[in-house]
Amino acid sequence: MVAIEEQDTADGPPVHVAIIMDGNGRWALARGLPRLAGHERGAEAVRRAVQACRETGIDILTLYAFSSENWKRPPAEIDDLMGLLRIYLRREIADLDSRGVRLRFIGSRNRLAPDIIGLIEESEAKTAANTGLMLVIALNYGARAEITRAAQRLAEDVAAGTLSPAAIDEEALAARMETAGIPDPDLLIRTSGEKRLSNFLLWQSAYTELVFLDICWPDFSKDYLEAAIDEYHRRDRRFGASRG
Ligand code: IPE
Ligand code: IPE
Ligand code: MG
Repeated sequence: MVAIEEQDTADGPPVHVAIIMDGNGRWALARGLPRLAGHERGAEAVRRAVQACRETGIDILTLYAFSSENWKRPPAEIDDLMGLLRIYLRREIADLDSRGVRLRFIGSRNRLAPDIIGLIEESEAKTAANTGLMLVIALNYGARAEITRAAQRLAEDVAAGTLSPAAIDEEALAARMETAGIPDPDLLIRTSGEKRLSNFLLWQSAYTELVFLDICWPDFSKDYLEAAIDEYHRRDRRFGASRG
């Protein structure tokens, strides 16, 4: 266990930043544009966010791109979002790779189109040995489903006789989550002014500092990242301990 002092927010940039990229639709609505225009500008904001995190010295960036509940949207909007993801991955893989970015996807691959699964596998394999920013994309991701699946894996191991119920602890569950091996987010940012987690990283964000920005995702820039980090530095992370 790392000493609490060593985890203080004063120690430089957060190691892991997670972002709920929300407000594309409202951005478009405010300008009399179709929602697709907001999602397109949102994809450009992703590029800026990745670059800003690299420049700021952040090690891990997790982006909530599509939730397991987003399938409730009209089919045409889902097609638009998946289309933009295709374009983003096709265009950006080589560039991200050349900048040393390591891509990883979390979320269920069921319901995803075969060519998107192909792009995911290709981008993960191609960038696996990179040592720069780790970019985690949460796609068709839902935290409750992730925790449920991890519980299922524990049950399978117990049934197989390779794990005793008494040996189930927090580490055992964490090791069966999709984020196994990735440290918990230090800072979670949500744009759009909405103040909820919407089924994102529920287990991992137990002690994450939450910052809510009143801008829509297409307007995100390095300035807002820095503002969120400034706010993070003003927080006093106690992890349940008392402070003298
Ligand atoms: C975020 O923007 C993009 C996704 C959830 C995929 P929204 O599309 O949710 O935008 P709002 O919340 O309707 O403004
Ligand atoms: C959360 O945003 C999901 C992503 C940003 C991908 P939503 O727009 O889906 O969340 P709710 O519906 O407002 O909670
Ligand atoms: Mg939204």
